[in-house]
Amino acid sequence: MCVCVYVCVCACLCACACVCVSVCVCACVCVCVCVCVYLCVSVCVCACVCVCACVCACVCAYGCVCARVYVCVCVCVCVCVCVCVYVCVCLCEITLTESSRVFNTWKNPPPPVYMEFFFFNVTNPQEFLGGAKPRVTHMGPYTYREYRPKDNVSFVDNGTKVSALTPKTFVFMPDLSAGDPSIDLVTTVNIPAVVVMNKVKSLSFWTRSAISLFMGKIGTGMFMTHTVDELLWGFKDPLLTHLHTFKPEVAEDFGLMLNKNGSHDGEFVYLTGEHNYLDYGRIYTWKGQKLMSFWSTNQSNMINGTDGSAFHPFLTKTERLDVFTADLCRSIYMLFEKEVEVKGIPAYRYTPPHEVLASPKNNPENKGFCLPQDQCLDDGVLNVATCRDGAPVIVSFPHFYLGDKKYVDAIEGITPVHDQHQTFLDLNPTTGIPVRASKRAQINIMLERITGFPMTKNMKGTIFPIMFLNESVLIDDASAEKLHKLLTIETLVSYFPFILVVLGVLLFIISILLLIRSRQRKVRSLGRERMWENVCEYVWAAPV
Ligand SMILES: *[C@@H]1O[C@H](CO)[C@@H](O)[C@H](O)[C@H]1NC(C)=O
Ligand SMILES: *[C@@H]1O[C@H](CO)[C@@H](O)[C@H](O)[C@H]1NC(C)=O
Ligand SMILES: *[C@@H]1O[C@H](CO)[C@@H](O)[C@H](O)[C@H]1NC(C)=O
Ligand SMILES: *[C@@H]1O[C@H](CO)[C@@H](O)[C@H](O)[C@H]1NC(C)=O
Ligand SMILES: *[C@@H]1O[C@H](CO)[C@@H](O)[C@H](O)[C@H]1NC(C)=O
Ligand SMILES: *[C@@H]1O[C@H](CO)[C@@H](O)[C@H](O)[C@H]1NC(C)=O
Ligand SMILES: *[C@@H]1O[C@H](CO)[C@@H](O)[C@H](O)[C@H]1NC(C)=O
Repeated sequence: MCVCVYVCVCACLCACACVCVSVCVCACVCVCVCVCVYLCVSVCVCACVCVCACVCACVCAYGCVCARVYVCVCVCVCVCVCVCVYVCVCLCEITLTESSRVFNTWKNPPPPVYMEFFFFNVTNPQEFLGGAKPRVTHMGPYTYREYRPKDNVSFVDNGTKVSALTPKTFVFMPDLSAGDPSIDLVTTVNIPAVVVMNKVKSLSFWTRSAISLFMGKIGTGMFMTHTVDELLWGFKDPLLTHLHTFKPEVAEDFGLMLNKNGSHDGEFVYLTGEHNYLDYGRIYTWKGQKLMSFWSTNQSNMINGTDGSAFHPFLTKTERLDVFTADLCRSIYMLFEKEVEVKGIPAYRYTPPHEVLASPKNNPENKGFCLPQDQCLDDGVLNVATCRDGAPVIVSFPHFYLGDKKYVDAIEGITPVHDQHQTFLDLNPTTGIPVRASKRAQINIMLERITGFPMTKNMKGTIFPIMFLNESVLIDDASAEKLHKLLTIETLVSYFPFILVVLGVLLFIISILLLIRSRQRKVRSLGRERMWENVCEYVWAAPV
């Protein structure tokens, strides 16, 4: 289909040049080209090709009659056409407007997103409390299909920005899971108890001892055993329930994904790329703020880049891709790793380098993430207590990948593997469309000795892994085919200059032939020809 259009363009230009040359013919050709291209690509490309082809045809045709330098002009114009089309095909399609073709896929991305949860089951809780190294085995995946259509979409500021909510719904996929989450039991750190113990750290020793006695009485220890369902989606915790009667603002339920089903991370305002294609999908504000207030420096509080689902076209290998993740309460960045191919589509793999989660002594940029300020952790872990209501939650990559060796060594059963535990994004460099991605993160709890709580007495201070997740997406076949088509057009367009050069040579030969013929015919009926043709032919014939 598209090959046909280009053949059509060539044929028309040739015809136009041969007829030599009224403007009327040119206009006619242009309309034809225009219709052709419209059928094949889109309005935007059509307008561009139409205008350029018209100029090109006219100049070429004119040159054919008159100028000696016409090949040069022609090629020049043709290069312009080619650049124009190239930019159009790739850019116009990618600016986000209500009528653009990317809008629907942006609003409701067709490729399925899967969220896999893996838990660390502690097999020696009593020995650990006695001072031994903890031993964990990992269980999973428990896979959920994630539906994340954009909601409450509205364009603001004359279409330069768009605001949207992304409510996420999780539906369990038994076939893709290793077990039944309503039956499988996990023994893990009693997170509510640790959170409560941390909260009362500043109270008097006697208060703490009283709370410790009370916890003993209701049977709350350092570890708990629950089903996967309960740990993820919430259960009534006895300690929290008791606290709730004193302080109603404390929730009775605890769950790692509590209230996350069907809820959103807050309102995002994105730039549409209307002014600059490099801004396509960039986050402008989150929850109405351009800067967060969790961290201690402006640099750390910056909301950089996109949300990871859309990137600008024409990516380069040297680019630093910024991505903001609300789960981490921070922006991270990714660098080019290698070239890959996904379902026949070429892609660049970007992945967060070691520096992203490095401690400030290895990367001063991260100074602001050290909270409380004087207690910096080592490489590969991030204390997110500041955005989790003070709960001592530490985020890292799974199995402390890219983390300090001491975190890996502190726990038996942890082995970081590059291919299994890295986070990556495979993006098609021409369009910026993600063709495959995997976001992997681990949730850990900081355990330390707290005086007044005898059960922590012999325990080693540890960053204790609870679970990790892998949120992955792979382009679906229909989208892959569409992308393939777009890339084929793009490849053809990149041959456009060669086609036009050949065309130029062809026109040159034709012009020579025409010249010879007109010399044979001699200049007889001057009066009937148009003025500019007269002048042309006069100029051409004069030196001879
Ligand atoms: C988790 O560990 C406990 C012992 O601590 C064990 O009873 C349970 O079967 C383990 N669960 C799985 C799924 O391996
Ligand atoms: C989203 O739109 C619905 C109505 O369509 C409205 O009830 C709701 O308040 C909106 N949410 C936000 C956060 O604006
Ligand atoms: C939107 O466009 C109108 C007319 O072009 C202009 O007067 C107005 O200032 C623009 N508003 C914004 C927020 O850019
Ligand atoms: C999440 O909510 C949807 C519908 O609201 C429901 O179908 C699904 O089972 C829920 N998922 C979980 C894990 O509870
Ligand atoms: C941080 O940003 C705020 C608002 O943009 C500004 O008022 C403040 O001076 C900045 N602080 C530093 C240390 O740059
Ligand atoms: C945000 O981007 C600026 C430069 O554009 C950089 O200096 C800063 O470190 C980035 N912040 C984060 C948290 O990545
Ligand atoms: C997600 O990551 C885990 C390990 O980190 C791996 O076992 C699993 O196969 C990955 N899932 C997908 C869909 O790539």
